[in-house]
Amino acid sequence: MASEKVRVPDLARMKARRRKIAMLTAYDYCFARLFDQAGIDLLLVGDSLGMTVQGRDTTLPVTVDEMVYHLRMVTRARTRALVIGDMPFLSYQVSAEEALRNAGRLMKEGGAEAVKLEGGVMVADTVRRLVDVDIPVMGHIGLTPQSVHRMGGYRVQGRTEGRTPGCRERLLEDAAALQQAGAFAIVLEGMPAELAGEITEHCAVPTIGIGAGPQCDGQVLVMHDMLGLTQSHKPRFVKSFAALAEAVTSAAAAYAREVREGVFPAPEHCYLRKELPS
Ligand code: KIV
Repeated sequence: MASEKVRVPDLARMKARRRKIAMLTAYDYCFARLFDQAGIDLLLVGDSLGMTVQGRDTTLPVTVDEMVYHLRMVTRARTRALVIGDMPFLSYQVSAEEALRNAGRLMKEGGAEAVKLEGGVMVADTVRRLVDVDIPVMGHIGLTPQSVHRMGGYRVQGRTEGRTPGCRERLLEDAAALQQAGAFAIVLEGMPAELAGEITEHCAVPTIGIGAGPQCDGQVLVMHDMLGLTQSHKPRFVKSFAALAEAVTSAAAAYAREVREGVFPAPEHCYLRKELPS
């Protein structure tokens, strides 16, 4: 496993060398440290924390202050991984000036090395403004969770022909617009694998897929899904590499049982008077 720090320009080199990029979400110091040690290339402090950590139904209520709070925890743990901060709903859509100010906060206060925002053609001018002041931007198209109400749910995009948002041709245009605006990478979420393959082939910048098939230049999963911590419906694209929900529940149940039965703490867990310094 490479130990050098991952930096923004490395991603283009990884695409050129066909070295797949591994990205995970992280929201706190403990998990970020473990993922960094495991060699994960990119850590995304995603606005998915609204659902995974805060227990909300959508990502829409997440604020810039909350993103800064979680970014600080994750960036304290970082040694190798590139840390990307997600721009929450309405932190970049109102004006390019607000986008600059909020992206700046994620970097200055949170320690992010790059930001991510959702949308293609409609946000391309904003992406350009950010890139022009050296804020590296990762795009995100396809199933964009901040568009949940327009989409009518978390639905796979790009299945229909057309140029309206979410249609196949429009997604190709979105990817091209982001690349032209200077995005250094693009997340492709929830779209047919063939379409993601076509975008990846035409795009000079790396694509990172989630529910978008194997042809992307890298993959991202939400950490709770990857670790088997999510108890709600598991989408088809998710693979759990551990079963932590069961492990955590049975550990907590065993602890509660031992406390109630007086088994824990045992003598070896107790400080004895004679061992204390005088
Ligand atoms: O917020 C998030 O976690 C994301 C990933 C699913 C890409 O945007």
